[in-house]
Amino acid sequence: MNIRAIGITTLLLAIPFCTQASAISELEATYQSQGAGAFSAAAGKALWTKEFIDTKSGKKRSCPTCHTADLTKEGQHTRTGKVIKPMAPSANQQRLTQVKKIKKWFVRNCKWTLGRECTAQEKGDLLAFLKTL
Ligand code: HEC
Repeated sequence: MNIRAIGITTLLLAIPFCTQASAISELEATYQSQGAGAFSAAAGKALWTKEFIDTKSGKKRSCPTCHTADLTKEGQHTRTGKVIKPMAPSANQQRLTQVKKIKKWFVRNCKWTLGRECTAQEKGDLLAFLKTL
């Protein structure tokens, strides 16, 4: 392999990691501009697993309700039954690479699970946790 081919291969290998890191740092900067402090993976994990009671049905809801307890495995949507690809970036390279997608699902999933939108601090903590998986 010549130098140029090695250079191109290295670049291609680096792309998935670059996009994930850049999506996360863009979001972290946004959340900090909205008043969030330092982010904590431990706080993110605690929120991810915390159970909330839905006021209408009285049923428990949490992020693992759909994404399952083992984030390297496929999850299942609790209402539609659709399979959800693994959430851990180590098991699914598409995860945490698209700012728009992350924002959209944070809105939907926080509203459904917590009954309200997540704060900037909570979203940063959740990302700090998820990116370690
Ligand atoms: C009612 C089912 C359900 C619950 C509960 C749920 N999610 Fe999701 N989540 C989904 C679906 C469906 C998608 C989009 C499909 C996909 O990406 O595989 C998704 C995608 C996401 C994504 C996009 C990630 C990416 O980059 O691809 C994030 C972030 C996320 N969820 C976070 C959360 C958090 C945080 C909670 C708990 C507050 C949560 N989810 C609870 C169903 C759920």
